[in-house]
Amino acid sequence: MKILSTVSSMRAACKEYLLRGQTLGFVPTMGALHAGHLSLVRAAKRECNRVAASIFVNPTQFGPTEDLSRYPRPFERDAKMLEEEGVDLLFHPQVEEIYPGGATTFVEVGELGGRLDGKSRPGHFRGVATVLAKLFHIVQPTVAFFGLKDAAQCAVIRRMVKDLHFDVRLCFGETVREPDGLAMSSRNTYLSPEERKQALVLYRALKAVMELWRKGVKESALLAQAAREVLASESAVKLDYFEIVDPATLEPKGEAQGETLVAVAAYVSTTRLIDNVLLSN
Ligand code: PAJ
Repeated sequence: MKILSTVSSMRAACKEYLLRGQTLGFVPTMGALHAGHLSLVRAAKRECNRVAASIFVNPTQFGPTEDLSRYPRPFERDAKMLEEEGVDLLFHPQVEEIYPGGATTFVEVGELGGRLDGKSRPGHFRGVATVLAKLFHIVQPTVAFFGLKDAAQCAVIRRMVKDLHFDVRLCFGETVREPDGLAMSSRNTYLSPEERKQALVLYRALKAVMELWRKGVKESALLAQAAREVLASESAVKLDYFEIVDPATLEPKGEAQGETLVAVAAYVSTTRLIDNVLLSN
């Protein structure tokens, strides 16, 4: 595995594969890798001749009071994991390389960027879209891989790729969970053993919704009420949002008919966690 830290060296290495007629899969990450990330790498290995990954903790997607400075950065361990998965190229740039002094150009995602996490984290999706536009230009992947765990992020990326005519196919992977149901996240490392147990309430609430929905309850208000009751049972967990929306537009749906995204975000102490399930009939 080659580790590259400059835009020009990464661009050249990616181009070499493409000129040889090989397909290139790309898995962008912020590191602190877990089995969720690795499932995307494996999908990329299956689908493409070559695989590139990136590890870049993108400052523009963090709010001023968020966890940018303490976000875990176990680079040696991450690089070893990616090498063992058979990744060909690992892009690991410094902030200055991606945002050269004076950079003023950003990708605006419009209303979509202000829904779900975008509502609680203003500017977050502008930062995500901007860094992905940069990474797509550098890597020029044939297929890029993202996790459905970040469902609003998936909607924003789909929209951006369509709106800006990026020549990339998108592939979305299922949420990978711990055996007890907790969605894997780099931020789970912030949780104490007690908080780790409390965090399970997110998935419990989603499961309650799925059960009701399977029994035929489709009205969003009733599904939301059931979820809120479960969430309220864990007083240490502070709800940020619980929403039942269209997975493409993130607009609220009155009824869970057709493809429906049920998404939750909550604080367990100071750690913000998200989870979701997709209902479709
Ligand atoms: P990060 O949180 O590191 O996630 C990288 C990729 O892994 C994302 O596509 C995310 O959805 C996926 N992922 C995370 N947890 C997962 C899980 N439990 N199961 C399946 N996939 C999972 O998301 C980002 O980084 C950044 O916003 C990024 C896209 C890299 C832009 O900076």
